[in-house]
Amino acid sequence: MSRKDIDSLLKESRRFEPPAEFQSRARIGSIEEYEKLYKESIENRDSFWSNIARELHWFQPWTEVLRWNPPHAEWFVEGKTNLSYNCLDVHLESWRRNKAAIIWEGEPGDTRVLTFQMLHHEVCRFANVLKRLGIEKGDRVAIYMPLVPELAIAMLACARIGAPHSIVFGGFSAEALADRINDASAKLVITADGGYRRGKIVPLKETVDEAVTKSPCIENVVVYKRTGGSVSFHPERDHWWHELMEAVDADCPAEPLDSEHPLYILYTSGSTGKPKGVMHTTGGYMVGTYVTSKWVFDLKEEDTYWCTADIGWVTGHSYVVYGILANGATTVMYEGAPNWPEADRFWQIIEKYKVTIFYTAPTAIRAFVKWGEQWPDRHDLSSLRLLGTVGEPINPEAWMWYHSVIGGKRCPIVDTWWQTETGAIMISPLPGATSTKPGSATRPLPGVVPEIVGPDGSAVPPGKGGFLVLREPWPSMLRTIYGDDDRYRNQYWSQVKGSYFTGDGARCDEDGYYWIMGRVDDVINISGHRLGTMEVESALVSHPKVAEAAVVGKPDEIKGEVIAAFVTVESGIEVDEALSDELKAHVVKQIGGIARPDEIRFTESLPKTRSGKIMRRLLRDIAAGRETTGDTTTLEDRSILDRLRKGQ
Ligand code: WT7
Repeated sequence: MSRKDIDSLLKESRRFEPPAEFQSRARIGSIEEYEKLYKESIENRDSFWSNIARELHWFQPWTEVLRWNPPHAEWFVEGKTNLSYNCLDVHLESWRRNKAAIIWEGEPGDTRVLTFQMLHHEVCRFANVLKRLGIEKGDRVAIYMPLVPELAIAMLACARIGAPHSIVFGGFSAEALADRINDASAKLVITADGGYRRGKIVPLKETVDEAVTKSPCIENVVVYKRTGGSVSFHPERDHWWHELMEAVDADCPAEPLDSEHPLYILYTSGSTGKPKGVMHTTGGYMVGTYVTSKWVFDLKEEDTYWCTADIGWVTGHSYVVYGILANGATTVMYEGAPNWPEADRFWQIIEKYKVTIFYTAPTAIRAFVKWGEQWPDRHDLSSLRLLGTVGEPINPEAWMWYHSVIGGKRCPIVDTWWQTETGAIMISPLPGATSTKPGSATRPLPGVVPEIVGPDGSAVPPGKGGFLVLREPWPSMLRTIYGDDDRYRNQYWSQVKGSYFTGDGARCDEDGYYWIMGRVDDVINISGHRLGTMEVESALVSHPKVAEAAVVGKPDEIKGEVIAAFVTVESGIEVDEALSDELKAHVVKQIGGIARPDEIRFTESLPKTRSGKIMRRLLRDIAAGRETTGDTTTLEDRSILDRLRKGQ
């Protein structure tokens, strides 16, 4: 399809109905069925969620569905369950025990398949390893691993014994890892000798060694041998995964856990420098991820489902591992880069395993568009029946490309809006029910009550932009920010009275379709992941030559946004290309590769209000090369804009 076709299609503002063939077999096969479910979820909330929760295994039933003391929710109060049990043990009772749970492919091309039985065996053994290392119910375990099956095994083992995990994405630096370990006071960190990325080895163990020097709470380090490369080993602290596994048996019954027992902590960026430890608990998160996987991905027994997210992000937690395995479905995991060894790796994997459901990020789709249709064209993608996106708004042009080139015009696309904090998908089409509009996440799932409000918290009319808030509690919602309940209250429940504040701007059209417009706080969305501008600014200012820094997002064709940093230096410091490189490297060291500024602009001073607040809005315009349209009268020194434009 050429660009011209795409433009004219957009002018028609096309809608895509669910294909009849898909609809006839779908779990939710009409818009009336969706509307009925939605209505039920609002009018009879408790019985609605009870019925869903009863599809899962509980050691002890709940006495109350929701106890809501705003902003604190407890779901399935007094119920006892175990998510590891629901992902594994329940499937061993039927023929499913010999079904593939995980189909894994390493970047070098090695593959492994674990059936539910095999996965259960490994998880039980590793849970016994954790116990041997002194990990008890409630202890926090940090995980810093490549995308190998052992990462899923480690999470499910933690969940089995009730030790909350804190997974840190392998792209974060030693500093960032140490901060997260310390914030959660983790006792153990699980890592690997390395992982493969674009043909190179990511030295994870080296990073852990550096982090642990700043993390006295760590007692032990478990190292999975992935690459076989040499790593330094501290005999009294470090242990090889395979050696520990030899010493234990596979007898480890799942611990009956309170529904509100913490399941995991996952750090995400906010608008201040310190990452927030989003805390999810057991029962509600389990119910939410289980049922949304079933509804949104229309998961069936015979599906081969692939979500390309790294497990270091929430998408991987909810939709590579927990929600998918709780449905007894097969999840595909791929360790490496999409363009290694060539730009068709993803399409090769889809063809090889006959993937039926494919879930990825708009940033990846934009990269595929750029690399060209010849790559998918080389492969048979006819096994696909459903496509999904997550992480940021998808531009209609990329949507159309995904629809026609990857989906062969036959697969519905689910554009799923949600957040680390929401735990599960909140706004999304149901593929057999909802007609889609390219670029819109469409309508709320059952139990979700979004609203668009103005600055005063009152609802705005259809078509008008505003803040996206959620009016009602939902089972998979975050329960708090680990160790900082005040921040939980302030960040999410104080901005608009009585509502959960998402931090996203959005509008709702006449048909009740939501169009997400992006973040309204000082958070940049890079390749579908949030990064606080403050975090990057703090990293820059920690460099001895930097006096002050302001960081903004700048539009980018592939990544959505990239980082532009405006920096003033200490007096007497020479500014040049070398310093710019030095500062970029410094940020990478402090936070990790994902935070590398794309551009550093040195300036004499920064645009500020009379009260000293940096006016990032103006810097965003300058970074994007746009005229400044907004009000500049509050600017302390108005000549500064001209100087900034001239690069002074
Ligand atoms: C932020 C959450 C949810 C897993 C991945 C990111 C943006 C997410 C969409 C979408 C438009 C989206 C929002 C949200 N976002 N999905 N379908 N359309 N924007 O998780 O790092 O917690 O980021 O990602 O801005 O607030 P996260």
